[in-house]
Amino acid sequence: MTAHVPISLEVNGEPVDALVLPRTNLADFLRDQLQLTGTHVGCEHGVCGACTLRVNGDIVRSCLMLVVQANHATIETIEGLSDSGEIADLQAAFRERNALQCGFCTPGMLMAAQDLLRQNPTPDREQIREHLSGNYCRCTGYQAIVDAVETTAKARVHDAPAGRTP
Ligand code: FES
Ligand code: FES
Repeated sequence: MTAHVPISLEVNGEPVDALVLPRTNLADFLRDQLQLTGTHVGCEHGVCGACTLRVNGDIVRSCLMLVVQANHATIETIEGLSDSGEIADLQAAFRERNALQCGFCTPGMLMAAQDLLRQNPTPDREQIREHLSGNYCRCTGYQAIVDAVETTAKARVHDAPAGRTP
């Protein structure tokens, strides 16, 4: 029998202490032990991007990371970004542009899109497509998603105080 191991991490600003099996991946831990089911699991081998979230500020595929590797890390999930309001404008743009249908890809898509906009506040459509190319959507055909990200980028630059990018 495999023993559980103790871990400590921060999830959406809250300290978490837990006992986990060493084989548990980060996505399953968040969904099954913390009930943070906004992180979706599709392919479970790093292809679809549905499980994308932030670890120490960088996006990762949480199906490919063991939760023990996240010991002492800072995790931000779609719930955290939604609750803080960080991506409220991006979420509104997805709604307004019909950039989601079934919604399965949407949390990972939003995490990846926000990652792009933090790195490059003024991406062109090709750069948006490139950055989101690791996130699969079976419903929308991608055009509306690119529209939503482009709209958000333009609005943020327009609304940013003079001399500053968002
Ligand atoms: S579930 Fe992780 S990349 Fe598909
Ligand atoms: S909205 Fe259904 S997979 Fe993207």
